[in-house]
Amino acid sequence: MVKRNLISVLDMKDEWPALVDLSIKLKEERGNHNAPLEGKTLIMMFEKPSTRTRISFDVAITELGGHALYIDVSKMQMGHGETVEDTAKVMSRFAHGIMYRAYDYKMMDRIGEVATIPVISGLDNLEHPCQALADMVTIKEKKGSFRGKKLVYLGDGNNVCNSLLYASATVGLDMIACCPATRMPNAEIMLGAARIADANGSKIIASHDPIEACRDADILYTDTWVSMGDDTPEEKAIKLFKMYQINSDLLSIAKEDCIVMHCLPAHRGQEITADVMDGPQSVVFDQAENRLHAQKAVLYTLLR
Ligand code: CP
Ligand code: NVA
Repeated sequence: MVKRNLISVLDMKDEWPALVDLSIKLKEERGNHNAPLEGKTLIMMFEKPSTRTRISFDVAITELGGHALYIDVSKMQMGHGETVEDTAKVMSRFAHGIMYRAYDYKMMDRIGEVATIPVISGLDNLEHPCQALADMVTIKEKKGSFRGKKLVYLGDGNNVCNSLLYASATVGLDMIACCPATRMPNAEIMLGAARIADANGSKIIASHDPIEACRDADILYTDTWVSMGDDTPEEKAIKLFKMYQINSDLLSIAKEDCIVMHCLPAHRGQEITADVMDGPQSVVFDQAENRLHAQKAVLYTLLR
C-alpha cells in the first residue's frame, strides 16, 4: 500500500467529511476499540512546546493498541548536524508513523517526501490540520451540520486559520477570515479554499471589520495573537489585534446560539476575555477533548 501523509488538510481533502464522522464514531466507541493498531509505533517529534497535541496523540495510539515515542528534536542528531533526509530514512526503519511539530513547513515537507512511513503534521508555520479536524468534529456535534452555517475567525491569519479555511471549504461551511490587513491568512491557501468552497456551494470571505463579520455568526473562533516562532512584540500585537478580541460585546452581535471556539492555549484578556471563555457559549474544552478522537481517526486511517 502507498503511504500517505497528513501535512496539509488538502492531503486528505476528499476524505475529510468521512474523517469527521469516523472521529465521532470512535468517540462513541471509546473503551471498546479492540486494538486495531496493535504493534504499531508512532514517533512524535517536537521542535516546539505542546500540551494537547502531544498528550492526545499519545493517548490515542495507546487506546488503539499501539505505542508512542516522544522526541525533543533538539536532542536528536538532526539538531546537531545529521541531515533531515538521513533522519527520515532511519525513522522509517523503526516505526510505523511520524507525528512532527515543526517551525518550518519546508522541513515538514522534506520529511514527508523522504520518509517511507506516514508523516502527520502536529503543526508548522503554515497549517495545523489535526486541529482543524477536531474543530470540524466539534462544529458537527454542536450544530448538527455544516451547510448554511457561518464561522468567523478573528485575529491573526495564522496556521490555525489557514487549516480552518481548507477544512471549512471541504465540508461546505461558510467562513469569514476577519483579520487586520497586514495579518491576513496565506494568500494561496485563501484562494485555494475559496475555489473548493465554490465547487461545494459554500463561501470563503476575507474581512477586516469584526462588527460586520460577526453579524449572524454561528461560530466565533480565535487563536493567540503571537504564535510560537513569531517575533512580533506583545505590545505591538495587542495594539494591532485589540478590536478583534472575542468579548461579550462582540458575541452579542452574533446569533443567540453562537458557539465560541479556541484551539488553546488561550491568553485570557487578549484574544478572548475570561468571561466569554468560561461562559455558556464556550465549547473550548469539548473542542480540546475532540483532539483525542480526531487523532484516533487519523491514526486509524493512515497507520492500519
Ligand atoms: N491546540 C494545540 O495544538 O495545543 P498544543 O500546543 O498544546 O498542542
Ligand atoms: N497559532 C498557534 C497555535 C498553537 C496551538 C501557534 O502556532 O503557536
